[in-house]
Amino acid sequence: TMVEKQGFKHFMLKEIYEQPGVVRASLEAYFTNIEESSESPINLGLPREFYADLAQIQIVACGTSWHAALVGKYLLEQLAGISTQVHYASEYRYAPSPLTPNTLIIGVTQSGETADTLAALAMEKERRQGQEPQYQARLLGITNRPESSLGLMVPHIINTLAGIEIGVAATKTFIAQLMAFYALALDLAAHRQTVPLEKLVEIINGLRQIPKEIEATLEAQESLTEHLAHDFAETKDFIFLGRGINFPIALEGALKLKEISYIHAEGYPAGEMKHGPIALLDAKVPVVAIAIPGSVYEKVISNAQEAKARDSRLIGVTPVNDGEAAEIFNDLLPVSSVDELLSPILTVVPLQLLAYHIAARRGLDVDQPRNLAKSVTVE
Ligand code: G6P
Repeated sequence: TMVEKQGFKHFMLKEIYEQPGVVRASLEAYFTNIEESSESPINLGLPREFYADLAQIQIVACGTSWHAALVGKYLLEQLAGISTQVHYASEYRYAPSPLTPNTLIIGVTQSGETADTLAALAMEKERRQGQEPQYQARLLGITNRPESSLGLMVPHIINTLAGIEIGVAATKTFIAQLMAFYALALDLAAHRQTVPLEKLVEIINGLRQIPKEIEATLEAQESLTEHLAHDFAETKDFIFLGRGINFPIALEGALKLKEISYIHAEGYPAGEMKHGPIALLDAKVPVVAIAIPGSVYEKVISNAQEAKARDSRLIGVTPVNDGEAAEIFNDLLPVSSVDELLSPILTVVPLQLLAYHIAARRGLDVDQPRNLAKSVTVE
């Protein structure tokens, strides 16, 4: 079937606007386990053996999928209490972690065709041959194309249900991957009883609010980000800061900007800025800080103040709109008030829009950026 732009100027913008629907599709598919007898409110269709004695998780991915995996690591460790490592697939394939018992490997790839990710999984699959059966069953793919090469390679799949994505820079498939990780982490937490049931229900109810919060964010941001984009016609470098669960979103914000606007950008954990990148800062280098009330809010604010003291223009992605925020940030990209644990699904949206509008304003080919391919099927 032909996918059309439906009145949007670019596929990327259309796909950004499809995100509330993508979250709804995932909620309907995975978060409504109505069977009373079930151990978990999540249904991923994974067999019982999958859960027994799970001790460790290794994740392999590239690009935006690697960023989703970093959010996944946070959730798997903090909710399900499973030690998790995230690897670039291109690195893991030549230097894998030692094979340990009861380790799950997850490959995250939107297309299911990325050569490095497939090769890392193939290597892993091969070295598990001849081990006990539970080793061989513990391969999971998270993909938007279950019919892909990845789908043929691994015994278990979480289908991210985002619908086909045309824009080379991933947007809605990233949010769909985040949803897959919320589902997996909450499911494992339920089976392992690391989070009390009431708390699980509270988190799931929070997730159910996300589609309309993305809608509100899109509405609030539309003209804001477009307007803000005008100011960066000459900008050569951008820094994105986040901490905790929003550190990977800082990385993703920087990647989106690099990919489509060709502006140099770096994402950094806000607390690390003082160990190097702060030397880059001056009035020519804007800093985007993701500041969500919760465990690291005050820390991010104080890191952001350090940037401001170096004359950087400070842009805050935050639900806070009080006197303090107005004083610290030169510009606000407001998001709805949301539990910190769920905030990455919202905070990425203004960063996608900012990258989009800067690139569109520069007259660039947003959907087909130079030198990039939707999926890289060579090593
Ligand atoms: C390419 C694309 C990126 C994508 C990466 C991984 O580099 O340009 O947008 O994140 O591949 O793709 P995958 O299909 O494995 O998620």
